[in-house]
Amino acid sequence: MPIPKQIAYNKAKAELGKKLFSEPMLSKDGSVSCASCHSLSGSGANKTQYSFGVDGQQTATNASTVLNSAFNFSYFYNGRADTLKQQIKDSITKEDGLESSMDEVVSKIQNSAYAVEFSNIYEDGVTPQNVVEVIAEFEKALITPNSKFDRFLRGDDTALNAQEKRGYKEFVSTGCVYCHNGVNMGGNMYQKMGVFEPYESEKMASSRFDVTKRERDKNVYKVPSLRNIALTAPYFHDGSVKTLKEAIIKMREHQLGVTKKVKSTANIEAFLKTLTGDTPAILKGDK
Ligand code: HEC
Ligand code: HEC
Repeated sequence: MPIPKQIAYNKAKAELGKKLFSEPMLSKDGSVSCASCHSLSGSGANKTQYSFGVDGQQTATNASTVLNSAFNFSYFYNGRADTLKQQIKDSITKEDGLESSMDEVVSKIQNSAYAVEFSNIYEDGVTPQNVVEVIAEFEKALITPNSKFDRFLRGDDTALNAQEKRGYKEFVSTGCVYCHNGVNMGGNMYQKMGVFEPYESEKMASSRFDVTKRERDKNVYKVPSLRNIALTAPYFHDGSVKTLKEAIIKMREHQLGVTKKVKSTANIEAFLKTLTGDTPAILKGDK
């Protein structure tokens, strides 16, 4: 399924949400904004393994991209938020976020130039719901349509070259598509990390188990989207993998039990690079 060329969102709200996204005032100590960990100048994430939040504290996982997140069925690796709005509340109030409180954020905004902008849009001005809503509208606007693969899906057979087409076939025949499918090539199911070969890391992220308390949900995560994957290195929740090539090899081993080292990754890699879409319209013209 291609990414839709457009998606309905409220432009005035999204533009205000865009400003708040880069506003450090909203964090507990005024030191970081959403954009500190989710760079808007390319990937929607950071190029570093971890990011740094309030009090210089290192994040527990690699920051996920915010691009196309509106298409995910839940949010965070452990899927603890079911909606964009819950995700934003979580990101405003908790660790790996702004560590503030909704009350504090509302009062800071009320005493700032943004207050007028809220009353221009909302009769009730600055409220916790409205703050969350403007950021949600901004996140909805962060879609990246028109990738080569999307043009191919829409019927343009020339959008992929021969190698990219072979890579697409291998992506399907090797079984990657079993977990990475749907409009986001991921983001629509939970799966164990380490189906065939256990995955161990010093920094295992909080998994689905922490939400459901079911034994079988240990090391189970929301399957990440592969959209714009060429831009979002480093890879995996622990940000331990620097290149796409290595990520493909690890996925084959851990998720599909394919351990033959000789098998080339070049085709699948070429295919994954066709998943890079256009800069979201709302960010065009930004540096
Ligand atoms: C200190 C760094 C940091 C800050 C600040 C931060 N985030 Fe994040 N964000 C992360 C990390 C790390 C993750 C992945 C955590 C996880 O999945 O458990 C994440 C995950 C997300 C996701 C989930 C993507 C998905 O589909 O699962 C969204 C959306 C998001 N953040 C938006 C925001 C917004 C909006 C703000 C500001 C209100 C914000 N973040 C502030 C680090 C940060
Ligand atoms: C059984 C389900 C499953 C299969 C099959 C699978 N993946 Fe994954 N994939 C996942 C999960 C779960 C993660 C998240 C792992 C983590 O962060 O620890 C992931 C992560 C990734 C990532 C890193 C994403 C990021 O943003 O960090 C890439 C790239 C990837 N997979 C590509 C592939 C390719 C290519 C194949 C086929 C060779 C494949 N996957 C097969 C479930 C799967």
